[in-house]
Amino acid sequence: MSVLSPTVDAIRDAARVIREGGLVVLPTETVYGLGCDALNPEAVAKVFEAKGRPQDNPLIVHISGFDQLGTVAASWPPLAEKLAAQFWPGPMTLVLPKLDRVPVVTTAGLDTVAVRVPSHPVMRAVIELAKRPIAAPSANVFMGLSPTKAEDIDPEILVEAEFVLDGGPCELGLESTVVDLSDGGPRILRPGAVSRADIQALVGQPLGHIPPGGVRRSPGQHLRHYAPRSGLRLVSELEPDAPGLTFGEPANDSQVRMPADPKAYGAVLYSALRRLDVSGKGTIQVESPPDRPEWEAVMDRLRKASATLF
Ligand code: TXA
Ligand code: MG
Repeated sequence: MSVLSPTVDAIRDAARVIREGGLVVLPTETVYGLGCDALNPEAVAKVFEAKGRPQDNPLIVHISGFDQLGTVAASWPPLAEKLAAQFWPGPMTLVLPKLDRVPVVTTAGLDTVAVRVPSHPVMRAVIELAKRPIAAPSANVFMGLSPTKAEDIDPEILVEAEFVLDGGPCELGLESTVVDLSDGGPRILRPGAVSRADIQALVGQPLGHIPPGGVRRSPGQHLRHYAPRSGLRLVSELEPDAPGLTFGEPANDSQVRMPADPKAYGAVLYSALRRLDVSGKGTIQVESPPDRPEWEAVMDRLRKASATLF
């Protein structure tokens, strides 16, 4: 198993592996993804297997541009064009009615497909050379922290992938914002790197949240998710001896000072949690960020990370 620099040869190799039904870990601007041919059910099944991901959790399909939307989506409202013009390439995923050629395993049996155009040049080059839409969930084992650096990829994933293309640290560090356009008004199913305010400003109306009993429309929103093994607790102030994330001065070597800006915070959140997680010094305490809309995506991840299974 190797980690390769994204040379022309390595990018070509990645495209070949994808076309042949294999798996490659690919960099995106949000998090690293475990990529495969989205139209190949056997390849997609391998991704579920590698992650230990439940079958009811659909994958995001990555395409090279808006002009490729018709290769996976059956239809889209005018709003999709408007959103794509503003946020693609970038960290926004649209949920739309799917074409029959997208295998049911990719969409976990749903009649919709989640699509985005990533902006990372390495990912884009692989999609273009493979000439395939690439399904890529975050390259972590189920319920773990998404990797934002090549060195953070779990060994369980490394053994299943042909290789990792190292595209450097992910610029945004939080997953894409998932917007459902498949059924009535636009709704945010997963807050993410594009803020609700930015999307609302373009749409010109408040966006809905995950519907009550929304498991069908927003599968994969398991309560515990993005979780460090050590456990995580939101607190108003860190205990001096505890490991954790603080906005203030760290009181010990296992405390990390986090940025006061939500985007900058999101960019380093997973790598900071991983660092504390491997040090294994007990429950990670996280100083609660301000209760403000621009912290929605970070709060979503922190809440999921702190949820217990019981
Ligand atoms: O930033 C990202 O989106 C990253 C990078 C690699 O692109 N990918 C990512 O994939 O976060 P993943 O598999 O970790 O998250 C996919 C989530 C699902 O858990 C679900 O919430 C939503 O996207 N999703 C996918 N397909 C859907 C569909 N048809 N309907 C509703 N939600 C869907
Ligand atoms: Mg994920």
